[in-house]
Amino acid sequence: MIVQLENVSLVRDGKSILQEVNWTIESGENWVLFGLNGSGKTAILNLLNAYYFPTKGHVSVLGMEFGKTYLGEKLRRQIGFVSSSLQGKLHSGDNAFEVVLSGAFATIGLYDVPTDEMRQKAIRLLEELGCIEYANQNYETLSQGEKQRVLIARALMADPKLLILDEPTNGLDFIAREKLLESISAIIKQPGAPAIIYVTHHVEEILPEFKKTLLLKEGQVIAAGETCEMLTEERLSDYFGLPVKVTWQNSRPLLSRL
Ligand SMILES: Nc1ncnc2c1ncn2[C@@H]1O[C@H](COP(=O)(O)OP(=O)(O)OP(=O)(O)O)[C@@H](O)[C@H]1O
Ligand SMILES: [Mg+2]
Repeated sequence: MIVQLENVSLVRDGKSILQEVNWTIESGENWVLFGLNGSGKTAILNLLNAYYFPTKGHVSVLGMEFGKTYLGEKLRRQIGFVSSSLQGKLHSGDNAFEVVLSGAFATIGLYDVPTDEMRQKAIRLLEELGCIEYANQNYETLSQGEKQRVLIARALMADPKLLILDEPTNGLDFIAREKLLESISAIIKQPGAPAIIYVTHHVEEILPEFKKTLLLKEGQVIAAGETCEMLTEERLSDYFGLPVKVTWQNSRPLLSRL
């Protein structure tokens, strides 16, 4: 079991953010966490990373149950996390190669001496994610799309069991988005790949490799299960509160208003 949320509710600053959330991710599954702005997606991720503690219910991630085991760093070392909020936190002045290497230590900035093996792995990941040509470029000067690739390579340095991608295509143009999705698809196909949670509010980004989807709305799970059953016109029209049409092309869904 990778993730188990049982009747999880979260209240922060007197505000109810999540209500009675149930979600199970088994090993080998890749999930889309779908929800509109403010629906509570990032709040769930903060629970999985042990940055938030549930107000009610049980959370267990990678076999560690909250409240029973000390989590924090021990847990976070096994979770690769990529979000745009991380972009601003990185060490200024580091080049792309150093940013990827720092993933081996789960630190922001390089404080330990990396081994040759780590260096080779960082180079391999930079190659796999198509960012080797800007390995020596200052991270801060990279474009948004280039930064996201470097951050995914960084997250993979520690061989995580769970990889969380929180809206990784934010700010990316069509081509950059499609290329990033191709890279994500390639990661999934590798032997020993981590379970992936792909967080988005765009139906168009859902790759066929993500066989499971959870629909979140206003802090509640509307439905969770097989992606093809979640992305029906009926369910999504109901979800958005407006009639929508879903067209499938090359196993990818496209959404339009009716
Ligand atoms: N620490 C907090 N204190 C008070 N309210 C919070 C806190 N964290 C999140 N919220 C609120 O909880 C709701 C869910 O926020 P969250 O960031 O999880 O949304 P999201 O689904 O990730 O949205 P987006 O797609 O815009 O990133 C929002 O209304 C937000 O204002
Ligand atoms: Mg968010």
